[in-house]
Amino acid sequence: MTGKLVVNLHKLARFTNLALPFLAGLFFLAGLRISFYFHFLTVSFLFLNFLNAFYLFGQRGHSLLRNFGILGQGRYILESIGPELRQYLYLNDTEERPFNRNERSEVYRKAQNINSASSFGSQKDFDATEVKVRHAMFPIRKSQLKPSDVTFGEERGCPNAYTMKRPFIISAMSFGSLGESAVRCFARGAKQAGILMNTGEGGYPKYHLEEGCDLIFQMGTAKFGVRHPDGSLDDDKLKALAAKDSIKMIEIKFSQGAKPGKGGLLPKEKITDEIAALRGVTKGEDVISPPSHRECTDLESAVRFIRHVQRISELPVGIKMAMGNAVEFHGLVDEMKRQDVFPDWITIDGSEGGTGAAPKAFMDRVGLPLFPALKRADDILTEHEVRNRLKIIASGKLVGPGRQMIAFCLGADAIASARGHMLAIGCIQAMQCGNNTCPIGITTHDPDLQRGLEVDLKAQRIANYVQNLEHDLEELLCATGCRSVQELSFEHLYVPKDSTLNTFIGSSH
Ligand SMILES: Cc1cc2nc3c(=O)[nH]c(=O)nc-3n(C[C@H](O)[C@H](O)[C@H](O)COP(=O)(O)O)c2cc1C
Repeated sequence: MTGKLVVNLHKLARFTNLALPFLAGLFFLAGLRISFYFHFLTVSFLFLNFLNAFYLFGQRGHSLLRNFGILGQGRYILESIGPELRQYLYLNDTEERPFNRNERSEVYRKAQNINSASSFGSQKDFDATEVKVRHAMFPIRKSQLKPSDVTFGEERGCPNAYTMKRPFIISAMSFGSLGESAVRCFARGAKQAGILMNTGEGGYPKYHLEEGCDLIFQMGTAKFGVRHPDGSLDDDKLKALAAKDSIKMIEIKFSQGAKPGKGGLLPKEKITDEIAALRGVTKGEDVISPPSHRECTDLESAVRFIRHVQRISELPVGIKMAMGNAVEFHGLVDEMKRQDVFPDWITIDGSEGGTGAAPKAFMDRVGLPLFPALKRADDILTEHEVRNRLKIIASGKLVGPGRQMIAFCLGADAIASARGHMLAIGCIQAMQCGNNTCPIGITTHDPDLQRGLEVDLKAQRIANYVQNLEHDLEELLCATGCRSVQELSFEHLYVPKDSTLNTFIGSSH
């Protein structure tokens, strides 16, 4: 006989409806006869009775509460703590999204300089879909590796070409989505690690500049920090900003993997007086950037705009985009060739990328994932014989050396990561970035929550993380027999027949 515990909620609710007034009465009598202190329970139960009556008769919005009263509230309470219960107790090490516990703990360990060697066996599926890196029969030694310098702007002889010594970048995250302490952790960490930090589209980069790291200034579609009141580019403001020592490059954001086709969104909860001033917007309203730059209405004007920004800023200028239709990308490259104007790099952002806030349908359903997008971009540029005119930066869940290595094989010259660095400073994936309630103090302006971020210590974590990523990357390179990431190619990957990557190879879309 199989026994199954069945809870009849109707009966339980009826019992609760009777038990609550009964217990209130009982404690009232006990308060009179036995001890005054029972009246504390009387008051508590009177309150529960009132709440129960309100749920059953006073409110109409929640059917569950109208039917089951206070008992129904139990479901809402359990549901609200469900993510934490699942994260801490029930989900296994490979299950969570966007990053499972294995992936997160690899970053935590690197950031804390803890050895991340694993034992017994991999927890990955060795199935027909996972891409793997092919090793060489005779690996080389670290002393044989070439420096991994990447120079942006060299292709067109930009007078202020910029060379990065390590191929890692802290990806765009605006001040606004991040609080001041987080910006300082990242900027100080970037300086310590000797890597670039992207300012994101948050306007004038006040705290970044104070920390003095090398910066990519990002110009979003609303052009916060360098805009006229109508949202068009203010050349003088851009010129003045580009002249600052720390600003090494400019990135024009066309689109972002987590919400391609949609402008940036900063919820009103996160708009302080300071952010309103730095962005030039009104407090108390969501700040929604337009989906595209007003100067860029077609391919011709978009390429002209890139040239304009290159001329005004006199710095290397790149674009950031998520891949939608490869035919459009062909068109873009054709237009670049026609005008003989190329951005100094293209950041290809995968649809699996993170964001401070975005509509769920966009996050889940729009845009190509990084690997196929990267492969298409690299192939198209090669087909047009212009791959040597620019660099490619890849971003989208590139938090560990394994996926980073695959990105290099697919054509990336450098790697940008946002959430990798967030995890490095202690992000627990609470998924609260848009609510101003980040428990770690990263994506919030609440001073009490930001207190959790000890800037010097977290900056060191960024430096450790970068150092250990570089170490792993070098070891992987040695295993492939390549002396630099530039020597890596698609041939260094094993791509199983059923991998999603294969479905895009040779496709025109
Ligand atoms: C909190 C947060 C804020 C972001 N702000 C921006 C932004 O201002 N501009 C932008 O182009 N991308 C922004 N992004 C996206 C990242 O730059 C990057 O494209 C994406 O997160 C890549 O995925 P990764 O987090 O896995 O590295 C943001 C991401 C996060 C998590």
